[in-house]
Amino acid sequence: MNYVENAVNHYRALLEEQLARVERMRAAAPAKDFAHLPTVTVGVIDGDGIGPIITGQATRVLNALLKDEIAAGSIVLKPIQGLTIENRLQKGEAIPADILDEIKTCDVLLKGPTETPKGGTMESANVAMRRALDLYANVRPVAVPEEGIDWIFFRENTEGEYVLGSKGIEIPDMLTMDFKVTTIPGTKRIARAAFEYAKRNGKHYVAIVTKANIMKKTDGMFSALCHEIAQEYPDIEVEDWYIDIMTAKLVDENIRRKFQVFLLPNLYGDIITDEAAQLQGGVGTAGSANIGDQYAMFEAIHGSAPRMIETGRGSFANPASILRAAAMLLRHIARVDAAARLDHALDAAGDKPREMTAEAYADRVISSLG
Ligand code: IPM
Ligand code: MG
Repeated sequence: MNYVENAVNHYRALLEEQLARVERMRAAAPAKDFAHLPTVTVGVIDGDGIGPIITGQATRVLNALLKDEIAAGSIVLKPIQGLTIENRLQKGEAIPADILDEIKTCDVLLKGPTETPKGGTMESANVAMRRALDLYANVRPVAVPEEGIDWIFFRENTEGEYVLGSKGIEIPDMLTMDFKVTTIPGTKRIARAAFEYAKRNGKHYVAIVTKANIMKKTDGMFSALCHEIAQEYPDIEVEDWYIDIMTAKLVDENIRRKFQVFLLPNLYGDIITDEAAQLQGGVGTAGSANIGDQYAMFEAIHGSAPRMIETGRGSFANPASILRAAAMLLRHIARVDAAARLDHALDAAGDKPREMTAEAYADRVISSLG
């Protein structure tokens, strides 16, 4: 078998696929105005493991919070069935085609965690959805007010190490090789999203986080394009940081207060947002928004916790993260008051005690809605 030739052919196909993606991004339709839709359809996807438990409680909270709008039909909560690990494995698709069609009838999505099989060829449903709906901005806020931490991460969500993560090369007995892809439109749109956010929210400092000293082509271009976009925002200070030292500075109490907006490629964003969420009280406490021009998906930052189900502790799962995500969803569709009510209710409810069920915690949030 001619491994090298096969690998080169494989690589040529990947390159052509990625060039076509660049063309599609360049020809993209203008962004949908989520704030002015007569009806907003919110798809609710259960996911795996503790997913149905926490999304079930989030649905209860949303029904209480949005009673009037739901009755009037301006907001529709639409359950999307079947995005389960069993169904995905059986159909051999990360997102079965009929479910993707259902998803595309929605404007925004609230999604429970979906299980990702290790190894094999089945791609993560998250990654597949981000790509299928072109959800290029992963936005993750982290706040610890008493320590002066008020951060928001703009993680590029559709390329970097992820876009070809299931399409690497293997030469048996010799080596394996994965690919990292950074495109010009893909970088400019995430940079634009971060700077626009900073400008609209009175933030004056953006940290661009890469490893451009080593990943010279991809991260080098990412940083350069971010600086190019930054020139349109002269009131915002911009600094380059390498990801390794940034992970250290996030735990440096003297320096971390100055950080506000982080702008970074996909994998670094994945890693460092877990670290940041931990500082806030754990990955169970942080919400995550995946935003594109036509769709947006909001999810808990944590996984499906299969061990909790195996040990019979599923009913004690913490719905706080998906509820924070629901508040971000409401803000995205311009329901700013409802979002604030939900965030306040979550603050008032405090952390979920370990021995409190998800349902009891949701009751506490509902009774704090005010
Ligand atoms: C996240 C998760 C996902 C990621 C996994 C579940 C594919 O860790 O949203 O941060 O790597 O992006
Ligand atoms: Mg992650």
